[in-house]
Amino acid sequence: MVHPGWVCLLQSLLLLARARQSRGPAGACPLRGKSELNSFLWTIKRDPPSYFFGTIHVPYTRVWDFIPENSKKAFQQSHVVYFELDLTDPYTISALTSCQLLPQGENLQDVLPRDIYRRLKRHLEYVKLMMPSWMTPDQRGKGLYADYLFNAIAGNWERKRPVWVMLMVNSLTEVDIKSRGVPVLDLYLAQEAERLRKQTGAVEKVEEQCHPLNGLNFSQVIFALNQTLLQQESLRAGSFQIPYTTEDLIKHYNCGDLSSIIFNHDTSQVPNFINATLPAHERITAQEIDSYFRQELIYKRNERMGRRVKDLLEEYPNRSFFFAFGAVPPTLLPVSVSSMATSRWNPSPGAMDDSVPLAQTPAALTSSPTPSCSHY
Ligand SMILES: *[C@@H]1O[C@H](CO)[C@@H](O)[C@H](O)[C@H]1NC(C)=O
Ligand SMILES: *[C@@H]1O[C@H](CO)[C@@H](O)[C@H](O)[C@H]1NC(C)=O
Ligand SMILES: *[C@@H]1O[C@H](CO)[C@@H](O)[C@H](O)[C@H]1NC(C)=O
Ligand SMILES: *[C@@H]1O[C@H](CO)[C@@H](O)[C@H](O)[C@H]1NC(C)=O
Repeated sequence: MVHPGWVCLLQSLLLLARARQSRGPAGACPLRGKSELNSFLWTIKRDPPSYFFGTIHVPYTRVWDFIPENSKKAFQQSHVVYFELDLTDPYTISALTSCQLLPQGENLQDVLPRDIYRRLKRHLEYVKLMMPSWMTPDQRGKGLYADYLFNAIAGNWERKRPVWVMLMVNSLTEVDIKSRGVPVLDLYLAQEAERLRKQTGAVEKVEEQCHPLNGLNFSQVIFALNQTLLQQESLRAGSFQIPYTTEDLIKHYNCGDLSSIIFNHDTSQVPNFINATLPAHERITAQEIDSYFRQELIYKRNERMGRRVKDLLEEYPNRSFFFAFGAVPPTLLPVSVSSMATSRWNPSPGAMDDSVPLAQTPAALTSSPTPSCSHY
């Protein structure tokens, strides 16, 4: 199973102290009752209908009650369920693992600047030390042990590519650790689809998610890793609050509040994250990374996935599809990114998460059935 709560990559790169004030209790949507639930269901009008559903990588128990019946029914009634990756295929997991590794014979210590390596090592030692105290009684009750969890997430870190280590470091915070152990929504849906003996499939290949991340160049990766470490270091020192937490994310999801996160591309862009305290050359690097990811992980991916969705719909006109893709920022990231931990009651180690912003996926389908947004 996996991870969740992760700070969106772009944000983690651009982090930079943009503290958020509003932090609702327990991720509940304060503005609405359960009668006005979120809806991340889009219907593709045809006969039988097909659907897009926006998922999220947080423990499904945190959001399940806020998902309206119509979405659950659409899932149950669909013949075929498609995810971004085939989460139930062991190949997916092994391919992900190897894609994250440095070339044979290389080690992080050989690759990273000495200062960064030393800080990384120190930070991971800190995390390992803190892990037992971060875990909840509930997690321990389920047999999840700190050592096990640490190894599941960070074991073998010296062999990982710097970009993956950077992402890993981001997912090793107290809040995120606390949410491990319950399947994230995507995984839960995949398990349900299996249990209900639905046909399942994937629109992406592991390599398609993994390679773009490996495509950042060295100076960009070092910048990102450095920024990530700086953030974690000030977190440790108590002088910094993570600007965007899993709780915020859950709340936005439960509120059906896609717009504040996704549609708001322009305002969520770089200038907001990068404030005047970042030196000019670093701001430029951050911007380059941002646009690289937008291009590779959002636009190109949306197009590719959109094409595949369209092909499927055309090829099987009388099947009802349910496409479950990521809907919110952490899910701007591919499944592969957030899939670093396993938990012992999860039969498929390593598995998943997900994503492309749903808001854009349908847009890539302009020439085919126009998905209409059905907010109930
Ligand atoms: C930039 O971030 C720092 C740290 O949070 C903050 O003190 C400062 O006011 C911010 N500057 C601007 C221009 O937003
Ligand atoms: C990395 O890419 C950026 C932007 O394309 C470029 O300016 C920089 O020179 C590259 N650095 C290296 C080490 O290739
Ligand atoms: C890390 O970032 C800080 C602050 O931006 C900078 O002063 C330092 O030189 C960077 N270190 C490396 C190894 O890039
Ligand atoms: C799909 O529709 C065609 C004709 O419209 C029909 O012959 C075929 O049996 C249908 N297949 C399924 C799986 O319903």
